Amino acid sequence: MPHTTSKVVVTRNLIDEAQQLLEADNSLEIVQWKSDQPCDRSWLLENVKGASGILLMLSDKCDDELLQAAGEQLKVVASFSVGTDHVDREALKKRNIRLGYTPTCLTDAVADLSVMLILMAQRRGGEAMGKVAMGEWSSMPWHPLLMVGPQIRGATVGFLGFGRIAQATLKRLIPFGISRALYLTSRAGQPAKDDHYGLLKEPSVPTEPAKSWEELASESDVVIVGCSLSPSTKHLVNADFFAKMKKLAVLVNIARGPVVDTNALVEALEKEEIFGAGLDVIENEPNIPADHPILKQPRCVLLPHIGSATIDTRVDMATESARNLLAGLRGEAMVNEVEL
Ligand code: DGY
Repeated sequence: MPHTTSKVVVTRNLIDEAQQLLEADNSLEIVQWKSDQPCDRSWLLENVKGASGILLMLSDKCDDELLQAAGEQLKVVASFSVGTDHVDREALKKRNIRLGYTPTCLTDAVADLSVMLILMAQRRGGEAMGKVAMGEWSSMPWHPLLMVGPQIRGATVGFLGFGRIAQATLKRLIPFGISRALYLTSRAGQPAKDDHYGLLKEPSVPTEPAKSWEELASESDVVIVGCSLSPSTKHLVNADFFAKMKKLAVLVNIARGPVVDTNALVEALEKEEIFGAGLDVIENEPNIPADHPILKQPRCVLLPHIGSATIDTRVDMATESARNLLAGLRGEAMVNEVEL
């Protein structure tokens, strides 16, 4: 039998375990962007020609142009991410190309970071560390109201989007003594479709669907953005939303930057419409220059999209993406596949 090879394009250096999985398959011709920097678009368009599979990152746009450049033999796209807003699903569907993603292995890491961001925003972590780092501690000796902020105990926590990560975050917040959880999905007022941790059947804190974004904004002490980015969620958190929020409430975004209108957030922080914010993502990331207005807000903590950045999780995401790619090429079941 003639030995046939399939070309696969990989848009980044991979962790060893994942690289070995791909290299163990000697029917593959692996063409790889061997760097930790984002893959150059023109390199990708050039090299994707004739590929049967692509393993890409959330920074690589997967659109009609890319699929057309690849050609008709393309069978599978495996994304090293849970979010797939960088992928044009319709374009894949009409070509019968399968899409793999990594929705489960990063849940704990991102939920952990959500808790960290809530506490950083409420307890003014960024502002406090900034003052110490600037040598200002001696000018602000201990006093009863030094750097006080709201407490998590007793809080109503509002979730925009109530998937795995949101539910895993809620699970972590219950031992802190929160009093209530509200959530909003695309079906406002309706119970969440999936109960990932048995929190909905027998909730140990009242957990209810919000009837509207207005209800969620006005009743929550903590608002957590955990929904995916789509035309209907872009700028879901905008000036009107902030105007409804409590003055002592904090906003956390661990999902995608454009769900929050950054200009409106800056204004809400300036006008003290809300107490603070903890962001792992922001519009136009990673292009945030040192003079960006959000960085002038002492009550905003901004991290460089590190939600899933634990060693274990990144190993799992890499191996799962490689397995999805291989399964797509072989016509087998993926670890996780998006229903297109
Ligand atoms: C994802 O996977 O979509 C996260 O944003 C990064 O881990």
